Amino acid sequence: MRYSINGITFNVEELKSVKLDQLKESSILDAHLFFQPVKAMKPILLLKAGDIVEAEFLEKYKTQNIESLCSLPLSAGQSNYQECFSRFTNAENEIERQIVAQEIVELFMNDFYLENENISFLSYSKFCFEYFYSLPTKVATNLSSKSLVLFSRAHLCASLGIMTCLVNKIVDPAFLKDFYNVIFCMDIGLLDEGELSYSVLDACERERVSHGGIDFLKNQKRPQREIDLFINHPRRSVAILEKYKSYFNSPEIIDFIKYHHEKADGSGFPDKIPYDSITNIETFLNFSDFIIPFRSIDYFIGDGRSIIKDAFDSLEKEKSREIEKKVFEKYNKVIIWKQGDAA
Ligand SMILES: [Fe+2]
Repeated sequence: MRYSINGITFNVEELKSVKLDQLKESSILDAHLFFQPVKAMKPILLLKAGDIVEAEFLEKYKTQNIESLCSLPLSAGQSNYQECFSRFTNAENEIERQIVAQEIVELFMNDFYLENENISFLSYSKFCFEYFYSLPTKVATNLSSKSLVLFSRAHLCASLGIMTCLVNKIVDPAFLKDFYNVIFCMDIGLLDEGELSYSVLDACERERVSHGGIDFLKNQKRPQREIDLFINHPRRSVAILEKYKSYFNSPEIIDFIKYHHEKADGSGFPDKIPYDSITNIETFLNFSDFIIPFRSIDYFIGDGRSIIKDAFDSLEKEKSREIEKKVFEKYNKVIIWKQGDAA
């Protein structure tokens, strides 16, 4: 029997049974999750790949004495990021850690740029979340419940940020953890008591691909409160994260967020600071912010090509994205080196 449910098309034979206690609380799903009380019944979609598994979700089914659900896995194969990152952390010295970091970079490039078409980007991003996310769960679940677009983007941007560090040979595990959480939270300042409007997300996307987010909101005659929220969100994100500074090894890293909408020529916001006044590492946030679009993502097998490869390819062709190209140069070296390997 073939089904098409909420845009997910599959044969019922592809569903795999998954025990409820195998689902990790506060983890990101790398499979779609269904409930099928009886075989003859059409499966009911509970969570999509990329959603976070909340404690209340597990509790709800446990109290109904339901032991297992059905999952539709995304990846036809598995790359073992878990094993690599565990060797990375247990490395005895910096040289050994650099060697493992290069292995992880190679794996990433193979999976999402060069060779492997069987793996979803979630296999990497889900693992980075498990490994590096260290803030209270409620920060992530609040983001997920208020905006799935922002949540999905938060873990994609943060996991790309980890790779940017490794490509640049930054391998200190304590720094990487802080850096992941900082990028994850760079847009939490967009949330306030009200709903996040589509206009704000639209402004974010316009700002991502070029300038123009603020002008867009003004032209749309959006309320001044919304325009101010957009302009001040880097500062608001910092202020929110300051409340959680005890979760950071080096809380001063939180300040990096202030600059993620500044531009090379000083025409960005909120402080119009040119790139030559901020450090290279601070621009890594801008790089993630540029690569990952503001849109809901339906994950599928081989999606790394649309998330990473297409963005990298377009960046390579573009002339104007000065700073992103500078960060991308490091990735480019790895790509050229890997292509040389394959030849
Ligand atoms: Fe932002």
